[in-house]
Amino acid sequence: MTEKADIKYLLEPRTVAVIGASHSPDKIGYKLVENIISTGFAGSVYPINPQGGELLGKKVYSRISEVPDEIDLVCICIPAKTVLPAIKECALKSVKFLAVITSGFSEVGNIEEERKMVELARENGMRILGPNIFGIFSACARLNATFGPRDILPGNVAIITQSGALGIAMIGKTALERIGLSAMVSVGNKADIDESDLLEYLVKDKNTRIIMVYLEGVKDGQRFISALKLTAKKKPVVLIKSGRSKRGALAAASHTGSLAGADDIFDAIIRQCGVLRAENLGCAFNWIRFLAQAPLPQGENTAIITNGGGIGVMATDACEKYKVNLYDDLEGLRETFSKYTPAFGSLKNPVDLTGQAKASDYSSALNSALKNPDIHSTISLYCETAMFDYENLVPMIEQTQKDYLNQKKPLVFAVFGGAKTEQAISSLREKGIPVFPEVYDAVSCLGALYAHSRHLRAEEEFLEPYSIELNRIEQLIYEVRNDRRSFLLAHEAKKLAEIAGIPAPATLVARNLDQAIKFAEQIGYPVVMKIVSRDIIHKSDVGGVALNLLNRSEVIDAYEAILQNCRSIQPDAKIEGVEISEMLQPGVELIIGARKDKIFGPVMAFGSGGKYVEVIKDVSFRALPVGKKEMMAMIEETRAYTLLLGVRGEEKKDLDKVLEVMQRLSELIIRCPEISDIEVNPLVVYEYGKGAKALDIRVLLTNPEGGVK
Ligand code: ACO
Repeated sequence: MTEKADIKYLLEPRTVAVIGASHSPDKIGYKLVENIISTGFAGSVYPINPQGGELLGKKVYSRISEVPDEIDLVCICIPAKTVLPAIKECALKSVKFLAVITSGFSEVGNIEEERKMVELARENGMRILGPNIFGIFSACARLNATFGPRDILPGNVAIITQSGALGIAMIGKTALERIGLSAMVSVGNKADIDESDLLEYLVKDKNTRIIMVYLEGVKDGQRFISALKLTAKKKPVVLIKSGRSKRGALAAASHTGSLAGADDIFDAIIRQCGVLRAENLGCAFNWIRFLAQAPLPQGENTAIITNGGGIGVMATDACEKYKVNLYDDLEGLRETFSKYTPAFGSLKNPVDLTGQAKASDYSSALNSALKNPDIHSTISLYCETAMFDYENLVPMIEQTQKDYLNQKKPLVFAVFGGAKTEQAISSLREKGIPVFPEVYDAVSCLGALYAHSRHLRAEEEFLEPYSIELNRIEQLIYEVRNDRRSFLLAHEAKKLAEIAGIPAPATLVARNLDQAIKFAEQIGYPVVMKIVSRDIIHKSDVGGVALNLLNRSEVIDAYEAILQNCRSIQPDAKIEGVEISEMLQPGVELIIGARKDKIFGPVMAFGSGGKYVEVIKDVSFRALPVGKKEMMAMIEETRAYTLLLGVRGEEKKDLDKVLEVMQRLSELIIRCPEISDIEVNPLVVYEYGKGAKALDIRVLLTNPEGGVK
């Protein structure tokens, strides 16, 4: 394989050729040339069409080989069956990038042709965008190589879209909303170039301040995670992903897998990367409109200034929902706002200027909040009233917005009312000033800004690894493989837990009655007995389990009963012995699982455990590795956290031990390539200092070729 071309030449090409440049104005090949020329592309444009001649003032070459120049980007818009030969010609010309507009490849099952295209391109050091795309727009190159709208407002928002139609519609929407674009790239089938390649360029692009990604699926999840982590530490990334339904849930043999809808893992991971996930297009556009210009807040205190109590309370609710913290220093609030608030108003946050407030009252209060260094952001709410000097609404918002931008303090407006207010909203939007008719939308924008700002400040944590004797684990796995199994029997899993330092109840396997009695006395009463047989999966169903055995005579009776039950119900089962283990006292039951996800690599699940896990579905996920803070956040996201804190006068449970088990499982899945899934359910957790015990452990191995199920 030849070295890959630098992605810079896709977005900043010096020369562009269009294969399929048509003379018919209603064809895509014409539209593309027209768009490229009309945007004022500074480089050279070479239309290619066998008929030759001239198109829109440019000489048309009949073949790419005739172009007397090096070509950075070739846009291909000819029928699918003719694309591969055209790419062969591009290879001879040492083209760098191919944007294949043409449809009719993997999206309609024509996978082989698409594979050949990529293979050919890679062999010749070329890279492919698409196929099945509407093209690419790059503001810094003044390049509109799309068959979408001609006039695209340049700006600082970059959009990557997997959907073509949605992408073209987004161009229209951004123009309407006065959102300027730095780039718009349609990735289509993502046969070669995908969102990760583009993020790697956009994170460094000085013209791009914020990135929006519309996704339907991810092929290389681990690379995507790295690209997102890197980008979100520098710029806000707003992501919309369709397909939240459970249909695509990852197939898995363990609870950890089946607990996770495809979207649950995706959602947890992208949030962990610091990505702002928008529920829908409306929300995404609100956020990008606001984030494209908002300065970062210097602290967590927000003031709400309103002329109506109701709207103020709604904003307070929204602040809680979107994790925006209200400034609550009563003295500071009084000092800042008392001059501008009538006696019957409110100086608590929300600050209520009352229904008689005029534009000048807003200006004064907003300016006072701007000057107070303890207030780090402001939400301003306006309800239309007959008392307000309407003609001053737009100028007041415009001026205060300018002042806040100059002082680098975030400000967001929500204005609500009739026709006059709607007119104000349109006129402000035309000027590129974000104002929202809905309070929740305004607050959600500020929430997104805070989420991004907190992510920027969050420090990465590195954990000192535990020392685990990996060679003993390898030996154990070797024996399991020799037995032609890809799962560990219960006593093997317990052995693995012991090697890995995961506390489990003391367990011994008895081969006869004398051993059963001896082991029970060694472990100490009460004990539990379970049949050991690889042929018996549901042990309780065949009478293979006896709990809470208090003495020698109960052990003797239970041993004989278990063997008799199993032999009569499942006579063919090969019985390897009877497991004797410590009977655990009740505690909080958790599930902790780690697995290698096919798309995202090692991931961890944490939640409420026990036999009803799949019904309760109280679980959180993360991609591994994670630090202690992130593990703690996983715990706090679940209802199990409340139980761990102790309810109804119970003592707090041993959270340190829980974190330790999480870390040890995480290390096992990362450091043991042959383990695909490891799950403890339940981990029974006791009071602080009394630790936790893994009652049941399931370990699955990767398939022998090294793949993950
Ligand atoms: N080199 C140069 N020019 C060529 C070649 C070649 N090898 N072969 C054909 N041409 C010329 C043709 O002569 C024609 O020019 P003319 O009109 O001057 O005669 C031009 O290229 C186009 O070829 P046509 O056969 O007329 O193809 P047409 O324009 O009808 O369709 C297209 C080509 C647009 C690529 C079509 O096959 C296609 O895939 N359409 C879908 C595109 C699409 O929707 N992409 C996804 C976008 S995202 C979304 O959903 C919005």
